Amino acid sequence: MNIQMLNLQRQYQYMKNDIDQAIKKCFEHQLWILGPEVKEFEEKCSEFFKVKNCISCSSGTDAIVLALRALAIKNGKEFFSPEDEIITTPFTFTATGDAILRAGATPVFVDIDPTSFNINPNSILKYLKNKNNVKGIIPVHLYGTPCNMDAIMEIARKYNLFVLEDVAQAFGGAWKNKKLGTFGNAAALSFFPSKNLGGYGDGGMVITDDNDIAEIVRYLTKHGGKDKYNVDHIGYNARLDTIQAAILLAKLRYVEDFNWRRLSIAQRYSESFKSMTELEIPIMIEGCVFHQYTIRVKNGKRNSLQEFLKQKSISTMVYYPLCLHKMKVFEGRSKVPEIPEKAEKASQEVLSLPIEPLMTTEEQDYVIKSVIEFLKK
Ligand SMILES: Cc1ncc(COP(=O)(O)O)c(C=O)c1O
Repeated sequence: MNIQMLNLQRQYQYMKNDIDQAIKKCFEHQLWILGPEVKEFEEKCSEFFKVKNCISCSSGTDAIVLALRALAIKNGKEFFSPEDEIITTPFTFTATGDAILRAGATPVFVDIDPTSFNINPNSILKYLKNKNNVKGIIPVHLYGTPCNMDAIMEIARKYNLFVLEDVAQAFGGAWKNKKLGTFGNAAALSFFPSKNLGGYGDGGMVITDDNDIAEIVRYLTKHGGKDKYNVDHIGYNARLDTIQAAILLAKLRYVEDFNWRRLSIAQRYSESFKSMTELEIPIMIEGCVFHQYTIRVKNGKRNSLQEFLKQKSISTMVYYPLCLHKMKVFEGRSKVPEIPEKAEKASQEVLSLPIEPLMTTEEQDYVIKSVIEFLKK
């Protein structure tokens, strides 16, 4: 058996007719830029999230930059300034922090809650005492696990901060039955191929109930003006391709079923691993969509388990081996009020196992058996 983290080929075969037809339609109409599928996809996403505005764009990273730029522009500034601070987690993909730099602000990395791997609201609060340069918070729903949005929104209200949710890994997830991405001022989604809703290339989206932010984001994706031949702001060419929108529209019909399948696999893994003392299973928060199924391997055994599984032709990944505050790009450009020990420990211990929605039970059993075999050695 050869088990990949995801099997996009299998997914394509599963929905081949829908995808092929969607692409064929694009070849027939030849409207490659902002074609009808883009509008339709945005409308379907508005229904899905029950939000007023969905603006598709070129990637999840660009979605964060666009939303941040719109927040700055709405407050009268073209970009944020380095004095403007935005609090986020150091335990995320590079793009979350990098987008803050690209929007001109300074990321402040505070520690995570070790059980959810998400930003710890208490660490945010601790930093906010006596600080007045903080403009906003970017919570990341890592691995599909919802952040504690009650606590984060309460802090944001108290300190008058914006909240931009990074929902790149949590399409369709919820916190207390409300969809992730609908709590803050805006949210960024990613349609990178491996995401819960993934295209056949890069893609992203900003979602927001704030019509001003939506309008600004929309024109920033088209060079920065309502009229692209007479622009007002420093914009981008950051539109979602029609063909990607067509593919995503077709795949949107499957996303809830696939999220449910991910959850079932996660439950099966957790049930099988629960008595293994050298391993910590992920917490089950209602609304989690298991973009990744990530275990902690204790006693310094993470890398040897990964190697063992590789010998058995089981792919695994370490998301993420290095916290953002340790990367060169953030040196001298970010703030780290305290060493985020929990995040650093997580980066040494985490291991994500295959969670392909169309995995067979035999494949799941093979992964389970192999992990247990290693732990019992
Ligand atoms: C948490 C997080 N934020 C942002 C991004 C950026 O998305 P993209 O790759 O579509 O630019 C990703 C993923 O790739 C991500 O995992």
